[in-house]
Amino acid sequence: MSEVFDVAVIGAGPGGYVAAIRCAQLGLNAVCIDEWKNSKGKASLGGTCLNVGCIPSKALLESSENYFQIKHKVSAHGITAEHVAIDVPAMVARKDKIVTTFTAGIASLFKKNKVKSMHGRGILLDRDDAADLWRIGVDNAGSREVIQAKHVIVATGSVPRTLPLTAIDNTLILDNAGALALTETPKRLGVIGAGVIGLEMGSVWRRLGAEVTILEAMPDFLMAADEQVAKEAKNIFAKEPGLQIQTGISIQAIKTTSDGVTVNYTSSDNQALLLEVDKLIIAIGRVPNTIGLGAEAIGLVLDERGFIKVDSQCRTNLPNIYAVGDVVRGPMLAHKASEEGVAVAELISHIEKGGACAGESVDFNIIPWVIYTAPEIAWVGQTEQELKAAEIAYKVGQFPFIANGRARAMGETTGFVKVIADEKTDRVLGVHMIGPHVSELISEAVMAMKFSASSQDIACIVHAHPSLAEVFHEAALGVDKRALHI
Ligand code: FAD
Ligand code: NAI
Repeated sequence: MSEVFDVAVIGAGPGGYVAAIRCAQLGLNAVCIDEWKNSKGKASLGGTCLNVGCIPSKALLESSENYFQIKHKVSAHGITAEHVAIDVPAMVARKDKIVTTFTAGIASLFKKNKVKSMHGRGILLDRDDAADLWRIGVDNAGSREVIQAKHVIVATGSVPRTLPLTAIDNTLILDNAGALALTETPKRLGVIGAGVIGLEMGSVWRRLGAEVTILEAMPDFLMAADEQVAKEAKNIFAKEPGLQIQTGISIQAIKTTSDGVTVNYTSSDNQALLLEVDKLIIAIGRVPNTIGLGAEAIGLVLDERGFIKVDSQCRTNLPNIYAVGDVVRGPMLAHKASEEGVAVAELISHIEKGGACAGESVDFNIIPWVIYTAPEIAWVGQTEQELKAAEIAYKVGQFPFIANGRARAMGETTGFVKVIADEKTDRVLGVHMIGPHVSELISEAVMAMKFSASSQDIACIVHAHPSLAEVFHEAALGVDKRALHI
């Protein structure tokens, strides 16, 4: 007899593990199946985010920023630092330790919450309609265990999009996993794609001394950001020594040689160019992962781009099967995946308690975006270009970090905060930031938008002085043309 669960979650990334924990908190008997193995061949929970995404990339960004500050910036504070050196293997080992601690932490959370954890590939087999149960195979090391569950949450995440011209070997041509595991700083680093990964990974290795060239197909970069923020970022990055971003290019050929990689490409004005680098990162987006899931066999419908098709509450076309996170439409962000995981767990619990199929859907308009470059970039809500396209009348307040006392004291004065509010109602429609620690400042904007605040509501809040948060306050005051310190 196979074991029977209320809920089987396939995938233990931030979508799946959070969904499983929330199910257990709500009294549901949950199992979480995950196939991830780390570089040592050991099962490792946490998916892309913990193993080769959010956490390791931020660990390396932090280390490389510290090195960069000491080498290039602390002299302005009167500090002399001689013989500054970076031990790349030690930096990578620190990152690996953080990852191991966190992935092991999920195993402990599963134990504490009584979520059963199974290692292996989860495969949707079929449905026993009479028993109202799905049968799921868990394949591991050549053997299959079959379990049954009333509800299934698919949270199988995403994988890097590949370039047909070349293959990833993670020695010379790297994806995100390879880019996070280099043990020495390449002299010349190429990156294809000036998206979030390209900019973050390019930043890490540039700060450590690599000459970084980023090749981007689109005529501009950061197309999802507010145009003014993207323009400011472009101007700042253009002045960074050791960083070149070329937009509007077209890749023609990629070859590995005895001492690196060559990339033949055409520039935006159609000149044939050659880039020679020691390592090349390919970061041209990610695609939903439904490999080996058995979606086709059971009739689980995917959309034209390969995402599992779901409604606003993450229900698929099949009864009691839900899907969350990167494998479904919407932003590919860890916090979006977790939010959907929680919403689905609560929906299932509600249904099991005899409730109607109501439930919350995640509001993508108040999902924050953060890009951890220096300066950081963060936003929530709509951009000016989106509001113009939708013909929504709006007003804008903006304030620069250079006019803020704390930013001056820190020596981090680039960038600004922009608050966009509805012309008539003053309700905040979007907040866009580029500057120091905006990854933290954006949370106040998210809270304001979650509670439908107006710019004047924010203007009424007392902000500590001196603090970077005053820049947000002044930008909100600026919507009504009453910023005080400019
Ligand atoms: P995943 O995290 O991809 O997890 C899916 C899991 O399912 C994996 O463990 C996989 O092995 C497993 N799986 C797949 N198929 C099966 C199967 N059939 N059976 C069993 N297991 C299976 N987002 C942020 O919000 N902030 C960041 O700073 C950030 N930084 C990032 C940096 C990098 C370099 C990358 C690549 C991504 C980053 N992201 C970031 C994006 C974030 O990692 C993803 O949005 C998030 O991990 C998606 O979560 P998920 O649970 O949907 O999928
Ligand atoms: P991306 O979608 O952010 O950027 C990919 C870039 O590659 C785009 O600018 C695109 O125009 C370009 N591109 C595509 N094909 C190309 C080609 N043939 N030649 C040259 N350029 C090409 O994707 P990325 O950077 O791979 O990241 C994937 C996702 O992971 C992000 O969209 C984001 O959702 C998530 N992520 C989030 C982070 C965060 O929240 N801080 C950090 C890293 C990743």
